[in-house]
Amino acid sequence: MSTENEYITLIYNDQSFKLPLLTGSEGEKSIDISNLRSETGLITLDKGYANTGSCTSSITFMDGEKGILRYRGIPVEQLAEQATFKETAYLLINGRLPNKEELSDFSVLLNDHSLVHEDMQLFYQNFPRTSHPMGILSSMVNALKSFYPVLQTVEEEINITVTRLLAKIRTMAAMSYKISRGHKVVYPRPDLSYCANFLNMMFENPVKPYQMRTEVVNALRVFWILHADHEQNCSTTTVRVVGSGRVNLYAAISAGISALWGPLHGGANQAVIKMLTDIMQDNGDIHKSIKRAKDKNDSFRLMGFGHRVYKTYDPRAIIMKKMCDNLLDKLHITDPLLDLAKKLEEVALKDDYFVEHNLYPNVDFYSGIVLRAIGIPTNMFTVMFAISRLPGWIAQWKESIDDPNWKICRPRQLFIGHKKRDFIPIDKR
Ligand code: SDX
Repeated sequence: MSTENEYITLIYNDQSFKLPLLTGSEGEKSIDISNLRSETGLITLDKGYANTGSCTSSITFMDGEKGILRYRGIPVEQLAEQATFKETAYLLINGRLPNKEELSDFSVLLNDHSLVHEDMQLFYQNFPRTSHPMGILSSMVNALKSFYPVLQTVEEEINITVTRLLAKIRTMAAMSYKISRGHKVVYPRPDLSYCANFLNMMFENPVKPYQMRTEVVNALRVFWILHADHEQNCSTTTVRVVGSGRVNLYAAISAGISALWGPLHGGANQAVIKMLTDIMQDNGDIHKSIKRAKDKNDSFRLMGFGHRVYKTYDPRAIIMKKMCDNLLDKLHITDPLLDLAKKLEEVALKDDYFVEHNLYPNVDFYSGIVLRAIGIPTNMFTVMFAISRLPGWIAQWKESIDDPNWKICRPRQLFIGHKKRDFIPIDKR
């Protein structure tokens, strides 16, 4: 970030104020308003923070106009092609790719911490069977704090907590699935990769051994890499905000999981499948959904379409769509929802409304079809997103607490309520 003396001038009440103009490493510009109120008495208002940077960051770069996504400078396309999810998690959290020895040590650590305290199974067994897995995951991640007392040094506490979360989140997710079906919990195995271990814990069955397919493990690897971080999205901002109060990382991540659950955010992958299924059941009437999505008086949105940052195709959606075709072909599966999704995309991208609003498929539009082909139940789609986003949340949280200038997040407001008025006793109201 360059801060050579560039400024913008704000003229207000016949006075002019110089505000620093900062330049990011990719040339993007931002006005530093850290002293705006103390110098001018003014605050800014930006609902949904669409124009507001909350921090400087070196983790993920997105260019919404060009459809660029890079983790620590490496294009997501290269990582999806060549990296393991573990390497990607290490890259996001530590700022560089691990060498062979570091990767092997990281693997050993993740295996050593992949079990969950047996008492936690009692918690799972007492959730109603109809509980949503995201609500369970958020509660159980928060509960982890109760099982692990604070360690001596802050650094030790942070490192072990990061390892525990990365190692245990798969086990916790698979455990909630098995227990919800009344099946025996399957434990992690040290001989399996990060992705294969999860699949085994989910689908291994004493009477019908799970057949691990390379294509499926690879699809999960790519799925998790594509979702691993995305700069200051809703759930990452939640983790940073909750973390800014200096609460423990388990609580901050639990809050991030809750934020991700929303259908406008990570819950969209599950909502896309519901939308496509509803269209299928309505004789595949795509035009009716397109019409509803364009109707200002209808709250219906085309799920999996649009993005706050991408005003072109989400680069992750391009990879996900290709992977859909590949995976279904290799598994000899046909999914009518994939054909429907492709038709919906084709019609929408030719419609002026979507073109004028820069609405393109985002990561969630095809991801649900990949998860269906893997055999993940629909109500666990967002859990898959949460497992993937965990390294990103951790990296962003660490960056915030390592920032000497990081403060507790406490935005201002523009008050539009009643001016001063007196209390009226009950018998006079
Ligand atoms: C994720 O932020 C991230 O990086 C998120 C994410 C990540 O990796 O963390 O990428 C993951 O959350 C992807 C997004 C998943 N959500 C959906 O697919 C839900 C459907 N999409 C929308 O609800 C919407 O596009 C959002 C929430 C994604 C973005 O909303 P914005 O930026 O707040 O835009 P907006 O709601 O102000 O819409 C701008 C205009 C509006 O029309 P006008 O009032 O200006 O005429 O575009 C329209 C909206 O009505 N619009 C849509 C639409 N999305 C926006 N119209 C129909 N269908 C849609 N999907």
